[in-house]
Amino acid sequence: MELPVIDLAPYLKFSGELSFDQSLNPELELDPYLKDLCSEVSRILRETGALLVKDPRCSAEDNDRFLDMMEMYFERPDEFKRLQERAHLHYQVGVTPEGVEVPRSLVDEEMQEKLRAMPKEFQPSTPTGPDPKWRYMWRVGPRPSNTRFKELNSEPVIPKGFPEWKDTMDLWGYKMIAAIEAVAEMAATGFGLPKDAFTSLMKQGPHLLAPTGSNLQRHGKEGIVFAGYHYDLNFLTIHGRSRFPGLNIWLRNGQKMEVKVPIGCLLIQTGKQIEWLTAGDCIAGMHEVVVTNRTINAIELAMQQNRSLWRVSSTLFAHIASDAVLKPLGHFAKSPLASKYPAISAGEYVEQELSVINLKGNKGEL
Ligand SMILES: [Fe+2]
Repeated sequence: MELPVIDLAPYLKFSGELSFDQSLNPELELDPYLKDLCSEVSRILRETGALLVKDPRCSAEDNDRFLDMMEMYFERPDEFKRLQERAHLHYQVGVTPEGVEVPRSLVDEEMQEKLRAMPKEFQPSTPTGPDPKWRYMWRVGPRPSNTRFKELNSEPVIPKGFPEWKDTMDLWGYKMIAAIEAVAEMAATGFGLPKDAFTSLMKQGPHLLAPTGSNLQRHGKEGIVFAGYHYDLNFLTIHGRSRFPGLNIWLRNGQKMEVKVPIGCLLIQTGKQIEWLTAGDCIAGMHEVVVTNRTINAIELAMQQNRSLWRVSSTLFAHIASDAVLKPLGHFAKSPLASKYPAISAGEYVEQELSVINLKGNKGEL
């Protein structure tokens, strides 16, 4: 089974985002084709926890520009990268070296029990320690001036010798948020909610561009786990295409699936906050990143072509605003499962989740 690709262009054109026809009435009824497209988006998110989209505003060249810069950064010696480490700020900005992030499946006994109960062929790889991947944290978008959840007063970190850093990070970050907003509107419509049901809660959310870098030269052996089995605690996560495959996701029916992202496409994954807002109609997608035989093939090709052996993911975690309330929306409030999702502010929810594994910050993964 392969995930279908949803082209966002017809929806963007309708909503005026592609500015072909600004005279379009934003309240205009969706035509049956677009309605079906929205239903398809919500159905795929519900059944797979992942969605492949093509957004005409985010080109393969944009993705390449971002990956090229991040490869160049991760190629630099560890001592250089550690200059951007802010451990005292709980890694909320700057670089997180490999060996710091701990996958939840390593510390959560309840999760470990569930994993052992899974059929062998669908069981995730077992990490033996912290994830051997680096990560860079860059905040994207405005933050509220008045909030119960003040972030640490930390300046963005820009590595020396990268004059294009800020522009490249911001460009990719804003484009990823724009794509997520379109999908969030379509999904809301497909779930039978007002089209701004999700996007209105995302305004001034603590969105985070958080690309990872995994050194395949050092760790490129089949079976090595770069990101152990986990879910994301944010609303939706989006990635551009990585130059090296390795992402596995678990469908709602428990089946494990290797994700292939076509060139020029983006991958969106459901996080815990959308699960909360839909009372579990859409659940947070479980996933892992592991070196597979396809990764090994891509490594061999990259070596022949003299390309970087760092696997970069261009991940952005989109969040619900910290002061907004997470609770089942609209008709989902009447779902029999709604009591499993009591009202809680998004900021408090994130703090609660992070305390489980003794981490602080607002990153999207556990
Ligand atoms: Fe993740």
